Formats: sequence, C-alpha cells, structure tokens
Amino acid sequence: METEIKPDRKLKIGLDKIDNVRKFYIESYGCQMNFADSEIVSSIVSSEGYTSTKNFEEADLILLNTCSIREKAETTVRNRLKDFSKLKTINKNLKVGVLGCMAERLKNKFLDQEKIVDLVVGPDAYRDIPNLLEDINDGKSAVNVILSKEETYGDISPVRLSSNGVTAFVSITRGCDNMCTFCVVPFTRGRERSRDPKSILKEIQELVDKNYKEVTLLGQNVDSYLWYGGGLKKDYKKISALRKKTAVNFAKLLKLIAQTFPKIRIRFSTSNPQDMNLEVIKTMSIHPNICKHIHLPVQSGSDKILKSMNRKHSRLEYLELIKKIKELMPDCAISHDMITGFPNESDDDHKLTLDLMEQVKYEFGYMFKYSERPGTLAYKKHEDNVPEQIKKSRLQEIVDLQQKHSLYRTYSYLGKTVRVLIEKESKKSKAQWSGRNEQNMVVVFDKKNFKVGDFVDVHITDCTSATLIGDAII
Ligand code: 5AD
Ligand code: SF4
Repeated sequence: METEIKPDRKLKIGLDKIDNVRKFYIESYGCQMNFADSEIVSSIVSSEGYTSTKNFEEADLILLNTCSIREKAETTVRNRLKDFSKLKTINKNLKVGVLGCMAERLKNKFLDQEKIVDLVVGPDAYRDIPNLLEDINDGKSAVNVILSKEETYGDISPVRLSSNGVTAFVSITRGCDNMCTFCVVPFTRGRERSRDPKSILKEIQELVDKNYKEVTLLGQNVDSYLWYGGGLKKDYKKISALRKKTAVNFAKLLKLIAQTFPKIRIRFSTSNPQDMNLEVIKTMSIHPNICKHIHLPVQSGSDKILKSMNRKHSRLEYLELIKKIKELMPDCAISHDMITGFPNESDDDHKLTLDLMEQVKYEFGYMFKYSERPGTLAYKKHEDNVPEQIKKSRLQEIVDLQQKHSLYRTYSYLGKTVRVLIEKESKKSKAQWSGRNEQNMVVVFDKKNFKVGDFVDVHITDCTSATLIGDAII
C-alpha cells in the first residue's frame, strides 16, 4: 500500500534530495599543470552528478591533486591527509581521493601508507574516474595509474575553478621526454605528447566567448610541442614526409593562436633552453599579443652540473639563446628555476651559478634546494652529498642575489608607462587593482573607474622588488 505523503513532508523530501546532492571538494598542489588538470577532473566529476564546494567540511568526496617534485611537496600532502582523516571519523561516508604525481609515484602503496585514502588516480587516468567512483561508493578502494601515449583530455571542457574570469590556463602538451636526472616528472606524467591544435583553438574560442582576456599555454616543455595527427613526440621521425609537411610545431601554434585571437594576450610556460628556437623567438617578436616574457629554467650555471643533470645545453649555449632573445625583443623579461646543492656541486660550481645570474639579471626566479627523488637517475647514480647547511646557505645567496636583480629590473620601469590587464583587487588595499604587464610583473594602482578585465596604461611611479606601483592613465 502506498503511504500518503503530507504536503509538508513532500517538501521535506524535496529539500532532503537537494541536500543529498553529493558534493566534491578539490585541492591542488604544485605546478600550474596540476591546477589545469583539476579543472578537467572537476568537469568529469560534475558530469557524475556531484556539485563542487569550496568547504571541505561539507564534502562527500575530497580530492587532492598532488605534487612529487620535492620531498617537501609530498610531506605537505601527507599532513593535509591527516586533517581529512579527523573528518572521516565524523563523516563515515566521506571518500578521499589522491590524484596527480604522488598517486602515480606511489600507486597501490598509497592505500597501505595512508589508510584514509579510498581512491588513487594518476594524471593520465582521469577519464576512468566515473568507474572508480562507482567502486568506492560500493565500499571498495580503487586505483588507476596507467600512463597513456595519447591522452591529452583535448575534448573535455575544463570547469574554471576559482577563476577571476579574465585569465585561464590551456594545456597544450602533457608529459616530458627530457629526463633531467633530478626530476620525477617523466616518471609521474609519462611520455611527451601534444594536443590537437583544433581542440586548443576551440578551448580558447570558448574562453573568448566568456570574455576571458588572457591565456597561458601550459606544458612541461611547450617549445617541443609537435602535432602531426597524434602520437608521441619520439615517433615523429617515423612518419611520412607528407605528414611532416603539415605538422604544427610550437612557433606555428603560437602564430595560429595569435592571429586567430588578436585581442587575447598569450603567455606560455615552461620553455626548455634546448627546445626553444629562433622561429619561436621571431614569432613572439612579430605578434604584439604574445607577451614578452619567457620562463627559461637553467637549474645551474656550471657546465659540470648541467651535464650531470642531463640538461642538453651548455652555459654558453644558454647565454647565447638569451642574447638572441634580447636582440629581437630587448624588453623581453626572462625568469628562471635554479637548484642548489645538486650532488657534487662545489663552491666553484655555485659561484658559476651566481655569475650566470649576474650576467642575465633575471626579472624573477624560483629557487630550490636539491631534493633527492627515489627512482630518478640522480638518485640511482649519485649520493646526495652536499650537506643540508651548505644547500641552505647557497640557496640564501641566490635568493638574495635574485632579489637584488628583481629590484634592478623593476626600478628600470620608473617613469615608464606599461599596459596592464586588471586581474583582481590588490591584496594590500581595497582601493587598488592588481594586474600584470606583458613582462609578467605585478602592477598595482588606484581603481578609479576601471574594472577587472580592462586593459589599462599605467604610469609607473614607485616599485618594490616584486611589484610596480603607478597611476592609471585615463
Ligand atoms: N629537487 C629540487 N628542485 C627540483 N625541481 C625539479 N626536481 C627537483 C628536485 N628533485 C625544480 C626544477 C624545475 C622546477 C619545476 O622544480 O627547478 O624546473
Ligand atoms: Fe623535469 Fe626536466 Fe622535464 Fe622539466 S624538462 S619536467 S625539469 S625532466
């Protein structure tokens, strides 16, 4: 017999249902690529009927998109998992998933090491999430860490998480074939593959339609982008001459995007010195909507260390590349990544790094102590033999030097006018906007009647080593 439902009870059931919509919370660590991947994962999880929440306490599913690049990054994630394990004692239905590089590196071991984890998914297996969710909701644990030769998620429209509605990441390559000896990425993100230019243009068109003003093309090694109909970079040699003729390299892709979307600002990251060529530099110099900034990690200024890191360029080749960049684009900003304390790094090697920095005078940089990563060639071949204290003091020295150079660079803008895309309110003052100029420098100025998404000319009147301060020209 059917029980009669009183109107107020009906309403309650309706509300319960709304309350029962499953919610997911996602947190990302590490590189920009991980943040972009989280937007793909959000799209996949949303199509399974979950809604996203910014409050992890109300989530039924917590996902951590993790990073393995240094030990510290992994420790941060493990500590975060401890926070969530407390939550699991309160909410028995809560499921916790680990995505990204740590998932790939640790695979099934994660389930033994971190008892609160239900789900482990590597960077190439996100399409399998719907099946894996079914398994965990049936009370099983689920793991998929299969790396792919093809996957680029080209057809998935990312859900723009905590977006400012103005700038967005668009991934163009996945994986890395470079095998720098210190780096875990080739193991966690697999072989290098490029995304179909058509799907890249489509994604940018969608962003333009939503009024976005800037895209950053992402890849571990964007300059080695190569589309010849799908497949791994390493298999390009085997294809026919005819297919090679129609292949799209990074310079061609940049040109295509710059011409198709003349009003969109284009950035890209990361460039590898050995793959960046004159064609790319020329393309940048010709198109005004390609921002004049290159993130060009070098890692060390010593040829001995570069060789031992399996970086496939010398110090001189790197400096010559920068010379070419500056010849064609004198106002192009260059930033770097640097590692101190790589195995066998001597005081002289360190001095060569300081000397290289002195020659380039980078606009900014990201500097790290060497962190030994299990499985890498450096781990297998070398003892991590630079004492922690020396790593630390060398790091401090390069950080201090970078600070000096950053100030030298920002100081050179005093009295000049720069074009800024407004991104958000300044952290320091509600009365000011914050945006970036073409060279990727943060610029703050009084709001006046401008709004987020406006391009504004700003006259620079003051600076710190990290920020330009000025007045918007009306
Ligand atoms: N230790 C320290 N820094 C590292 N990086 C990559 N692997 C390591 C490691 N094992 C740095 C490099 C790279 C950046 C993304 O992280 O500088 O360019
Ligand atoms: Fe790692 Fe080198 Fe590839 Fe960068 S280029 S992701 S440092 S292996």
